[in-house]
Amino acid sequence: MRITDTADLWYKNAVIYCVDLETYLDSDGDGIGDLPGLTQRIDYLADVGVSCLWLMPFYPSPRRDNGYDISDMFGVDPRYGDHGDFVELVRVAHDRGIRVIVDLVINHTSDQHPWFRQSRASKDSPYRDFYVWRSDTPPDTSEEAMFPGQEDGIWTYDEKTQEWYLHHFLHTQPDLNTANPQVREAITKTMGFWLQLGVDGFRVDAVPFAINQTTLTGADQHEFLEPHDYLRTLRAFLQRRSSGTSSAMVLGEVNLPHQDQLAFFGGEDGDQLTMQFDFTVNQKTFLSFAREDARPLAEALSERPQNLSVETQYANFLRNHDELTLDLLSAQERDEVLDTFAPEDEMRFAGRGLRRRLPAMFDGDPRRIKMAYSLLFSLPGTPVLFYGEEIGMGENLEVPGREAVRTPMQWSQDKNGGFSSARPSKLARKVVEGPFGPQHVNAAQARRDPESLLHHVSRLARRYRDCPELGWGELTILDQHHHEVLAHRMTSGDQSMILIHNLSPKSLVVPLTLHDEEKGTELIDLLQDGACAVDAEHATDVTLEGYGYRWLRVKRPGDPRLL
Ligand code: NOJ
Repeated sequence: MRITDTADLWYKNAVIYCVDLETYLDSDGDGIGDLPGLTQRIDYLADVGVSCLWLMPFYPSPRRDNGYDISDMFGVDPRYGDHGDFVELVRVAHDRGIRVIVDLVINHTSDQHPWFRQSRASKDSPYRDFYVWRSDTPPDTSEEAMFPGQEDGIWTYDEKTQEWYLHHFLHTQPDLNTANPQVREAITKTMGFWLQLGVDGFRVDAVPFAINQTTLTGADQHEFLEPHDYLRTLRAFLQRRSSGTSSAMVLGEVNLPHQDQLAFFGGEDGDQLTMQFDFTVNQKTFLSFAREDARPLAEALSERPQNLSVETQYANFLRNHDELTLDLLSAQERDEVLDTFAPEDEMRFAGRGLRRRLPAMFDGDPRRIKMAYSLLFSLPGTPVLFYGEEIGMGENLEVPGREAVRTPMQWSQDKNGGFSSARPSKLARKVVEGPFGPQHVNAAQARRDPESLLHHVSRLARRYRDCPELGWGELTILDQHHHEVLAHRMTSGDQSMILIHNLSPKSLVVPLTLHDEEKGTELIDLLQDGACAVDAEHATDVTLEGYGYRWLRVKRPGDPRLL
């Protein structure tokens, strides 16, 4: 990897930050966050070290699913502003070196979308085939419903034309018939539109559902023999439309085991999704946290598919806007994580996950929280933050469902945490109360405190950005005898780093042997003052406090880099 490569494949060492506009910053006092509000905070994000902003759906929507039920893919929900405000945001972000990606929902629309209104109006409607209909009574599909508390299956009967339509999520989110070429064309047109307005890529929602052959076969007249061709087409379109100063990327939500994700990258050809979230690593990280044992995480990292195309990349995250799903763990592992971090029923979601943010799961222990974010930024891949993580926000369990973690951003100790000047009853969502509320956790205070989580995250972001071996390098798990510790090495060409994380509260000394390093090599600490020297036996000892962490860059004699 040369330094110039990092500008071409920019997403391979980006710091991505996810924003829900509705709860970020309200600029006009109506209780709802908006585009001009977010634009005001671009400098804050630049300061945090964010290099790519991911905007959750801001399109017109009845918001039965927080905007993932879209009624106009080309629009901007007037509550957030208009297209002019969108372009202003993208311009300001670009000026501060921040790229912008937006959510692209290809699996479904809202039932209020004009396509679905027409589709359900008559069996002869030209839009009938935009969705998936069946005339026979479906079998029991309760196991397949994504929101089991709210839906008892994935087919809903429609009185008007007396057929059933498919929806993997809510019945107000009918699944698009992605085998229909007209639907595909409409989706690429949507991508073209937002690219023209300046976006740098898309976070693609619910990808496996969108190309799920089993639900489409037999229910549709079109051939859908190779569903992955659809992803190839999207990627090729993206490439054609975004060549120029920098190419756009597609970051897919594919919550599947590693081996199954391989096909979504396009195997070794790498001609489908450019990035995918690593749900396995996410879930195994929490298993490791719960056990204070780094081995599940180390195994998950080692099992990642090798030989991926250079253009592909994993995105790592600790928490996102959804529940912390544990569906890739075994039932026993899932129970371990739930029992440790969600002891109360109200902290759980749909039997498979948690509706909590990380600091509350760790009882606010600053050492453990800082270690967790250090780990996130040190993993091979690209880190993704959910808004508020950088200041250590908690959840509000009084807010139902997954919304518990989507509370207003806490800017200051002012009214409504500085999010909005509206009356509290008018707010899009209730502000967190108690020890994680704005009186204790807010961005203004954190900016003034050099020991704050905000400063820590921003230091990590900057170090991550200037150590491209983290995003680009090859991983080696280093042998050492403490199972509480993850010691890994990231190497790209002659650049190499050693990252060590102690998942337990015990202080430890970690002896390392680096066979390919000679006496004279130093390990320079990038987060604090200090260095470790490699001795004639190629060995060194690294001391870690409880929940301690070290980022050590390998410096051989004569290394001219600024370290
Ligand atoms: C995944 C999104 O992250 C989630 O919030 C949403 O409910 C589903 N996809 C359906 O769009």
